[in-house]
Amino acid sequence: MRRVPAEAKVYVDGQVLDGEQACVSVFDRGFLYGDGVYEVTRTVRGEPLFLAEHLDRLAASARAIELELPPHPRIAAAVGQTLQALGQPRAYLRIVVTRGAGEIGLDPACADAPLLVVIARPLQLPDQRLYRDGAAVVCVPLRRNAPGHLPPEVKSGNYLTSVLATAAARRRGAYEAVLCDQQGHIAEGASSNLFFVQGGRVRTPPLAAGLLPGITRRVVLELLRGHGVPCEEAPVTRQEAAEADEAFLTSSVRGVMPVVRLDDRPIGTGRPGPLTRALGVWYGEHIGEAPP
Ligand SMILES: Cc1ncc(COP(=O)(O)O)c(C=O)c1O
Repeated sequence: MRRVPAEAKVYVDGQVLDGEQACVSVFDRGFLYGDGVYEVTRTVRGEPLFLAEHLDRLAASARAIELELPPHPRIAAAVGQTLQALGQPRAYLRIVVTRGAGEIGLDPACADAPLLVVIARPLQLPDQRLYRDGAAVVCVPLRRNAPGHLPPEVKSGNYLTSVLATAAARRRGAYEAVLCDQQGHIAEGASSNLFFVQGGRVRTPPLAAGLLPGITRRVVLELLRGHGVPCEEAPVTRQEAAEADEAFLTSSVRGVMPVVRLDDRPIGTGRPGPLTRALGVWYGEHIGEAPP
């Protein structure tokens, strides 16, 4: 049986449909090759969080794979229509643009025209306990791509590294996988950015480590600096991560989530730390919703 999320609304090819009815061609290159780009965010009181930034990153990803996006107003209108059809104040939102369908063949010239899909469904945040008690993460052997490969800053349909990393983490009973760069330094989570606190200073791996420039990452760095917390974007070794006083992960859907275990060892006291808790409150104020 197909497992389609209940209550989803999907914009595809100019129409908004129920999740079970929405479909795309098997000749679509997003299906055949992961040949497309996407963004994920959530809404707060009906409004997509950081939509302008997500559309900018979508445009940057599209440029990097030489995919011409539908015009910006069309994407924004499709998002508005889909959310309106869903009619929920708190929604998960996914915007996907593939290169389109066509003759099977690697040459992008086989594609007809880009396909825009918008998926909205009621927001389901991770279990509250993860916010209250913190999440466990594990380093997996898979590495983020080295320079010269498909750059990790491109949010393309090729997410197999993150899919396999997540599977490996879940097998080990952890919530999120930690991926390292080619030097073995921490890069990011499978679908999140990572931060470590040591002696009151916050450190997150630099973009040069090869990671998605998270929109929440940027917002969180600004919030921390605005509250006078020293922050740096600098390499983090696995040893440094293990010796951190506190850690947390960020993403647009999850916001700020404390991380309390790394590779089966507690981080700091093994409980969400004071700075992480304070940041959760500042972030909640910033987006206009109390922390989970
Ligand atoms: C690999 C990866 N890193 C980081 C993030 C967090 O990015 P953002 O804060 O823009 O949601 C994501 C989001 O899905 C991701 O897939």
